[in-house]
Amino acid sequence: MKRTPQSIRFLINRYCSSSIVTLSIFSILVLLTIIISLRHPSVVSQSSLSSTKASTFLSDNEESLPELPRLAYLISGTKGDVGSLKRLLLAVYHPRNYYVLHLDNDALDSERLELAKYAKSEKVLREFRNVMVIGKANLVTEKGPTMIASTLHGIAILLKQAKWWDWFINLSASDYPLMPQDDILHIFSYLPRDLNFLEHTSNIGWKEFQRAKPIIIDPGLYHSKKSGVFWAKEKRSAPASFKLFTGSSWVVLTRPFLEFCIWGWDNLPRTLLMYYTNFVSSTEGYFHSVVCNHKDYQNTTVNHDLHYIRWDNPPKQHPMNLTIDHFNDMVHSGAPFARKFAKDDPVLDKIDKEVLRRSGNHFTPGGWCRGSHLDKDPCKVYGSPDAVVPTPNSKRLENLMMKLLESENFRSRQCK
Ligand SMILES: *[C@@H]1O[C@H](CO)[C@@H](O)[C@H](O)[C@H]1NC(C)=O
Ligand SMILES: *[C@@H]1O[C@H](CO)[C@@H](O)[C@H](O)[C@H]1NC(C)=O
Ligand SMILES: *[C@@H]1O[C@H](CO)[C@@H](O)[C@H](O)[C@H]1NC(C)=O
Repeated sequence: MKRTPQSIRFLINRYCSSSIVTLSIFSILVLLTIIISLRHPSVVSQSSLSSTKASTFLSDNEESLPELPRLAYLISGTKGDVGSLKRLLLAVYHPRNYYVLHLDNDALDSERLELAKYAKSEKVLREFRNVMVIGKANLVTEKGPTMIASTLHGIAILLKQAKWWDWFINLSASDYPLMPQDDILHIFSYLPRDLNFLEHTSNIGWKEFQRAKPIIIDPGLYHSKKSGVFWAKEKRSAPASFKLFTGSSWVVLTRPFLEFCIWGWDNLPRTLLMYYTNFVSSTEGYFHSVVCNHKDYQNTTVNHDLHYIRWDNPPKQHPMNLTIDHFNDMVHSGAPFARKFAKDDPVLDKIDKEVLRRSGNHFTPGGWCRGSHLDKDPCKVYGSPDAVVPTPNSKRLENLMMKLLESENFRSRQCK
């Protein structure tokens, strides 16, 4: 399948035209003309455009395709996860992207070493040098702020070590992709580079009592052995100087927003980080509250975490383990990722075979793999990382994006 202009483009044009409010009337008119001519190319007479740049912009040839983005992944695991981490890395690997792998403090040094050795010895990874393994582990307490600290650490490494990327994506060893990277890169190339995907709501309901009011202390901040968080007897009241938002811990965030969080030239991300130090499950609220409490970012949210996740009814602490029974439903959801999977569950083999077309210890094939499809591993011979060949799966992601960006779902669900 060749990269071709997507219908999603028209929706994006609408997004752009509605977000640029400060433009002069004149530039709005120019913009509108371009949008209208894009939607109805036949309306514009050929002669008026043939001598201008706009004609190449209108044609359906390759030059008119938008630039491909780069993605930066943080993949975290714990003791016993080396096998799943390797498998996940092979499944989501693409030479355009960057990957930081983190095994927390519970994992053995030998496991960390094994992972680092693997990243150093694998021929393709060595060639593209885009996989980093964090050598010094962070202690991560479930529900504690050490979790968000570890994520911020990974982001900081990606900001410092990787040249450029557009979106940050957070995965764990029990996640798995539902489409090749080529499809994700292709569809994301149509998106404005300032969209932050995170499922969020300010209707914190039961969480106000169970999450916002209790005060916890995470011993992971100052001890070297893992234990649970302490619960203080006192309760605190809801904050007055900012509004709390909560949602899914799985996020796809833009580089500009994360620079804002990490560099902290505005005090909001820092103040909230301190507030969340004593908050239960800070990863379900930190980025959500920062993004929604700042005027520069609140209009950039898309209320979805781009994961397929199933919860029991009523929800338990962890989501359901996905199995073969969920295969059709998860693939048709159009979500690029799903969780959570038990280690080497048979459904992962089905995903490898039917959607990723990946076998054994090989990479998910993409346009960068030049070996013949008869070869066992077509990515042994590789070409340009910029060659992206979408599969029919990209249509599912396109449909999901179209749904999320439609006006009734998009603006009306931002920071509400
Ligand atoms: C990031 O990924 C980990 C999985 O290792 C998850 O537990 C955490 O809550 C995620 N989200 C954030 C915002 O750190
Ligand atoms: C964000 O959107 C709201 C509502 O559409 C609008 O009033 C506001 O000016 C926008 N903010 C920015 C910074 O564009
Ligand atoms: C889900 O899978 C994990 C292994 O990853 C297992 O420990 C757990 O018991 C499973 N949960 C259920 C409800 O089957």
